[in-house]
Amino acid sequence: MNKAMTSKNTVIKHLKSHAERLFLTRITELFDRSSDRFDRLSFELDGLFVDFSKNNIDQETLSELFDLARLSDVEGWRRAMFAGDIINASENRPALHVALRDPNGEALIVDGVDIRAAVRDTLNHMEQLVEKLRSASWLGATGKLITDIVHIGIGGSVLGPEIAVRALASKTSNAPKIHFVANVDAEALMPTLSALDAETTLVVIVSKTFTTLDTMTNAVSARQWLSDALPGKDISAHMIGITAARDVAMEFGVTPENILTFWDWVGGRFSLWSAVGFPVAVTAGMDAFRQLLEGARKLDEHFLNAPFESNIPVLLALVGIWNANYLDMRTHAVLPYDERLAGFPPYLQQLEMESTGKGVHVDGSPVINETAPIIFGYPGTDAQHTFFQALHQGTRSISMDFIGCLKGEQGKNNHHDQLMASLFSQTEALMLGRLQSQAGVSADQACPGNRSSTTILLDALTPETLGMLLALYEHKIFVQSIIWNINAFDQWGVELGKQLGKTVLQEIDAAQSVNGHDGSTNGLINRYLNKR
Ligand code: F6P
Repeated sequence: MNKAMTSKNTVIKHLKSHAERLFLTRITELFDRSSDRFDRLSFELDGLFVDFSKNNIDQETLSELFDLARLSDVEGWRRAMFAGDIINASENRPALHVALRDPNGEALIVDGVDIRAAVRDTLNHMEQLVEKLRSASWLGATGKLITDIVHIGIGGSVLGPEIAVRALASKTSNAPKIHFVANVDAEALMPTLSALDAETTLVVIVSKTFTTLDTMTNAVSARQWLSDALPGKDISAHMIGITAARDVAMEFGVTPENILTFWDWVGGRFSLWSAVGFPVAVTAGMDAFRQLLEGARKLDEHFLNAPFESNIPVLLALVGIWNANYLDMRTHAVLPYDERLAGFPPYLQQLEMESTGKGVHVDGSPVINETAPIIFGYPGTDAQHTFFQALHQGTRSISMDFIGCLKGEQGKNNHHDQLMASLFSQTEALMLGRLQSQAGVSADQACPGNRSSTTILLDALTPETLGMLLALYEHKIFVQSIIWNINAFDQWGVELGKQLGKTVLQEIDAAQSVNGHDGSTNGLINRYLNKR
């Protein structure tokens, strides 16, 4: 075993003994021991503030975690990612979403192409289409202005755009309205289309491969809807394709000038910063989209240059590893106390669980520790009336991120004061608890407390701070993947279901009863065939 592995195993042993020590310590005691705990464990970067002090962790533990990061060569992997090295080994690709938000950096050659020049070209092409739509000069086949956009995509091709469009909706001027459709369930597409006028509707199809079944099934139906509503007309003015597969998009009927491309080295869940962010630029303007990119680039620069001890994504990653691997918190709650960030939990479910929900190391050997926690979440204050009971009195250890904005969009008002008072008081209640012995309450009313949380506060929700927040989590999962020695950028686990789905769909199309599966799957398919 090499020296680094030996030392890494030694650090892991130390961390286990710290966990035993801290299991017996209440977080409130850690505050009692150092009056400056909040100051030492909270960090700020240009309007982004993160408070780690309500976690069950101390400086001794953190310094071991920094050693773990160094011994895992986080610096080396970080350098490799930004340099465009092949760090996604199983797909033989770089992971260069960071290049998307630094279009004016120095030339970066991938497969013989300066990708920064390609990024700039695509941004310029995107801006042309966006300006045509925002300046009300995009006419449909019958000469009418486009008023509505149906954005068809799934996973990373919809979740990033959806959260950003919602978060920046207040910046919308006279832009076409965006309607997102992802699910192959006709209940997603058909009601959306039936409420729209094809003459004034633009369909934007977003798929890196232009083959994802959910997306292409919706795209075919939407194209048919356009053709039926515009008989004999050229419907090309009603379709845009956003993809890495230009030829496939052209075969589908999208004209070349309406195709925006992104590249193989952009993972779907990291693609918001590419042309996939098109609806964000349509809604909030291209300048706002560029500010979103700039916010992410600022966070990149901080991630690249800040020492681990004050590196916010590294700290978020290490606190996450501490909670998941040493304090046995196998689920993680994401609680945005801002209605404009309601889409953050599902976005983060994909970003985290599709990136680090892995069971083998990069060399193919089995992982023996826990990797991605189960991510769930819901906006506060709603969540206080759904699952917070389990957070306060349940038997499971759950780590939590609370996210809030100091300034609301509606200006200073009692709503925002109540929202923020709830955020602060919930993290306090979860930590303090209400012990039967102290509070003279019954066992039913007692709350054990000592429940960890991290609080993230944005000064205000702007394109820039949103970019910083999303990039923060991208680098968090990247650092965790390095320490867990797993590939954060592939997603082979989703392929098996897709393959088996093709077989079942063929059997359903054949409409013959089946017996080639297990008893349950046979029974379920045949019940569907008999009763649909
Ligand atoms: O869920 C698997 C996945 O490949 C995601 O990684 C991706 O965001 C989504 O499907 C959609 O992929 P595409 O953009 O290629 O249609």
